[in-house]
Amino acid sequence: MAKKTICDFDLKNKRVLIRVDFNVPLDKNLHVTDDNRIRASLPTIQYALDKGAKVVLMSHLGRPEGKPVSSMSLTPATKRLSELLKKDVIQCSDCVGPRVKDELSELDNSKPVAVLENLRFYPDEEKNNAEFARKLAENGDYYVNDAFGSSHRAHASIAAVTQYLPAAAGFLLEKEIKYLGEAIQKPKKPFVAILGGSKVSDKIGVVENLIAKVDKILIGGAMAYTFLKVQGIDIGDSKYEKDKTDLAKSILAKAKEKKVDILLPVDHVTVQKVDEAAPIKIEGPGISPGRLGVDIGPKTIELFNQTLDTAKTVIWNGPMGIFEMKPFSNGSREIATKLAHLKDAVTVIGGGDTAACVISFGLDGQMTHISTGGGASLEYLEGKVLPGIAALSEK
Ligand code: ADP
Ligand code: 3PG
Ligand code: MG
Repeated sequence: MAKKTICDFDLKNKRVLIRVDFNVPLDKNLHVTDDNRIRASLPTIQYALDKGAKVVLMSHLGRPEGKPVSSMSLTPATKRLSELLKKDVIQCSDCVGPRVKDELSELDNSKPVAVLENLRFYPDEEKNNAEFARKLAENGDYYVNDAFGSSHRAHASIAAVTQYLPAAAGFLLEKEIKYLGEAIQKPKKPFVAILGGSKVSDKIGVVENLIAKVDKILIGGAMAYTFLKVQGIDIGDSKYEKDKTDLAKSILAKAKEKKVDILLPVDHVTVQKVDEAAPIKIEGPGISPGRLGVDIGPKTIELFNQTLDTAKTVIWNGPMGIFEMKPFSNGSREIATKLAHLKDAVTVIGGGDTAACVISFGLDGQMTHISTGGGASLEYLEGKVLPGIAALSEK
């Protein structure tokens, strides 16, 4: 990697300010319901501790819009971190200012880790304000970005802060760049992209960027219906984007020109309304009036699985159906299972819902890499330069 990493710093007896992405889901009792992002930050935190550093973590949680909102405190995430580290962790009352200085003065060998309060309680965080960034920088001797999931945001704790401290990548950021970057820059071939999810418009940049790099694209989920529609196939009442039909046509034309096969569903699980109890019917290639597609059908699963058989690199973004409802989760589960069993293939999962989907099937441990980024991994796959990566010091 061309950027400095945490390994380039001499951390002994220093304070390292690490931007993490602890933007984790909480239930109504403010318990963390998915701690993957916290777990993913542990290697960097543990490394800093092993090297004799004190660790000051900072993150946002939710979108409090520039003012303190108690339900968006980082306290629940800090509690979970403390359990995972098996150490007391200091929860600061704020992220800048004299009180934080006092609280951080408590850092010692028995309590070497502190978490600042939600950065987005200040409007200056999202404004990438330099003065606010300077104040954040006062909390450390070195800055490390391990918040891949937030690195598409040019915010003070991600971008401006790097003007005030030597800045390097943490292990999670490095790993994300390695797997997402290698997949799109020098993939082992055949390279297959699986795209799905709810909207063409969300993923259009990804499809356009990937056409230049992949051998085949498999499209499922609601995205598929816009593509089927422009090919004159009946889609019944399935979700599709009327104003994206021209775009879908131009993508199909571009793929043809680049000799990239785009495979669309040949059958579907359909219902009369989106309800777990609704009776299902398998239909294909078209869908009858009054019904809508909620998952890919068995022939499509077979077609997609055959294509995946020989793949050496696979990127998957977007579930194949409404996987949150068990009767419509089969397509996504079958595809996830196929990826889990591929031999010698690099399998990379991007997108918040796709990651949640793979985790819900218990197959996350069998993928090469599951990105902790939602929007960030999409922007990376679109080929955009992420401000959080660009801002780090060169090696
Ligand atoms: P990611 O977060 O991984 O990028 P998206 O947000 O694009 O994925 O898409 C996930 C959503 O797409 C899920 O909530 C899923 O229920 C929905 N979805 C998938 N297939 C369909 C479908 N056929 N009809 C309606 N929604 C769908
Ligand atoms: C995410 O959850 O994708 C990141 O934490 C970024 O959050 P944001 O979309 O509120 O900037
Ligand atoms: Mg999503």
